[in-house]
Amino acid sequence: MAGHGRLCYGGDWNPEQWPPEVWREDVALMRRAGVNLVTVGVFAWSRLEPAPGRYTLGWLDDVLDLLHAHGIRAALATPTASPPPWFSLAHPDALPVTAEGVRLHHGSRDTYCAAAPAYRAAARRIAGVLADRYAHHPALALWHVHNEYGTTCHCAHAEAAFRRWLADRHGDLDSLNAAWVTSFWSQHYADWAEISTPRATQYLANPGQLLDFRRFWSDTLLAAYAEQRDLLRAANPAVPVTTNHVLGDWVPVDQGRWASEVDLVAIDHYPSAVDGGAEEQTALAADLARGWARHGAHRRGAGDASWLLMESAPHQIHTAGRMHTREPGRMARHSLAHVARGSRGVMFFQWRASLGGAERFHSAVVPHAGPDSRVFREAVRLGEQLGRIGEADAGAVDAAVAIGWDAASGWALGHPGMPSARLDPYAELAAAHRALWRAGIACDVVLPGDPLDVHRLLVLPALYLASDATAAWVRAHVRAGGHLLVTWLTGVADEHARIRPGGYPGALRDLLGVRVTEFHPLAGDDRVPLTGGGTGRLWAETVQLTGAEPVAAYLGGVLDGSPAVTRHRVGAATTWYVSTRPDEDTYRRLLTEAARLAGVGPVCPGAPPGVEAVRRRAGDRSWLFLLNHTGRPQRVAAAGTDLLTGAPVDDAVTIPAGGVAVLRERSP
Ligand code: GLA
Repeated sequence: MAGHGRLCYGGDWNPEQWPPEVWREDVALMRRAGVNLVTVGVFAWSRLEPAPGRYTLGWLDDVLDLLHAHGIRAALATPTASPPPWFSLAHPDALPVTAEGVRLHHGSRDTYCAAAPAYRAAARRIAGVLADRYAHHPALALWHVHNEYGTTCHCAHAEAAFRRWLADRHGDLDSLNAAWVTSFWSQHYADWAEISTPRATQYLANPGQLLDFRRFWSDTLLAAYAEQRDLLRAANPAVPVTTNHVLGDWVPVDQGRWASEVDLVAIDHYPSAVDGGAEEQTALAADLARGWARHGAHRRGAGDASWLLMESAPHQIHTAGRMHTREPGRMARHSLAHVARGSRGVMFFQWRASLGGAERFHSAVVPHAGPDSRVFREAVRLGEQLGRIGEADAGAVDAAVAIGWDAASGWALGHPGMPSARLDPYAELAAAHRALWRAGIACDVVLPGDPLDVHRLLVLPALYLASDATAAWVRAHVRAGGHLLVTWLTGVADEHARIRPGGYPGALRDLLGVRVTEFHPLAGDDRVPLTGGGTGRLWAETVQLTGAEPVAAYLGGVLDGSPAVTRHRVGAATTWYVSTRPDEDTYRRLLTEAARLAGVGPVCPGAPPGVEAVRRRAGDRSWLFLLNHTGRPQRVAAAGTDLLTGAPVDDAVTIPAGGVAVLRERSP
């Protein structure tokens, strides 16, 4: 894989869709582009096992040998994300059932139930066959288990497994009834057999049940992953094992909690915004992945917090409903933005555009037009650039602000029955991240309980669930002098999504010196003016001061004159409470001020707007990534050597429009 100053470069290669002459052309083109790692076999189950127990592996032998002969390594996938049609026909009970009770049929991909014993056995079998045959193949760099775990199921297997999981988590029915507050709406369970997965029901479902189902399903998918991992590892412990995560609020996977179970966190990232939002989404995805990797390393007690961009789209942004062409240079800039934030390389989906199949128009490194194309030329250039900046792979991203985030909290906040149907936990995470990104301040994303030794400011954007342990973690940070900024709806509920009484934010009132007694969700595009010139949207609250001082107040309406943003001194720390969603400028100014008081400034104080700066450090060496997202050349004060051009930089570097500079900085 990566290492020794060499970044990974490549993508999903699907030789099963092509004749061998194309394979040979492909590897020659890969060499030309500097590709050193390709993912193979992701959806090849029906080619590898065309009938139950009949294996046709000769073509994969040839593919791996061909790669090896050309010095390209393989992330060899287990094909378990798409069982062949024979499997569904032989095991109809392993086909997934929707919440409405509809059993799905094969014809797409991902059509299986991860709790079905027949599916799990078939998946282990094909993974075992690959392990036996290829665990010591010289081309093998990495096992890529499955693809984007994410489907759910409500079949009888899932239901039985859910009951077992619940019994394990809650111990007895009294505890479960208390956790789910089943006294409401006559939902008391007197027997485990009465409990089902949260199927389609008459009206709002029980929030505790919904939350536990998400957790259960994440654990179920993790168990399916782990059993493949264990047998791959047993075949050759030297080969790392991972799986690639897709991001999105629909994904029933708690990626942070999986991170200690993979040897390398891998994400697929497809921004959905066409304008500048794509750059912000890229930065957030990368910071999340790094945060998961850091969390995993902490949980394992081992230092390696590696992550890899396993998939991205080469020349288009695939928005819902239409494909948007990435402007020249943007593919490289997005790719290098991931490397800036710690990715061990850049991988695409897919290498060569398919001629048929559902994703025949998905962008590819080798498009339908062939290698005589802009996208391939840009890919060759990106390969050269990655070859020049490999030494930066040694550096860890430098950040002194942390955003606290937890998948389960996001799931709970997204439940029906909240005071506003417009609450979007991921939008709250993104808004806080965007405000820091626009302020040029680097941040890590952390999970509750993670070490905060390098972080001087902790930001909690709508971290709705706070267990006692989470509250203690925040308290310890503040007691140690760490600053804190908390937004609305944080700490309101416990780990079972039960409200903490006595005023919001229940778990953190004392730390913030406030007590919130009422919510006032805003309608549509309503804005509430704030003193100081900003506005709030989505949400407002009645905030009583119990020690804090007001920083900004609401103007007009029922809240006229009452505090909107507050600040409180706790020992050496300052804690902030923000009871609305500030507009972008106000949010940026607030976080800049909170960071300043905590002694944290921008990565590159003089960088012009639209230039993103990220620093990576290893001991006294450092590398500064400067990404110019504007359409004009930009000049930034810096000193060192631009690794991309080889030019020395004495006091300032000019970054071309839409371009990137990667500086090996001069040691102090
Ligand atoms: C995901 C999948 C790929 C492909 C791409 C398309 O990331 O892993 O198989 O479907 O999306 O964007």
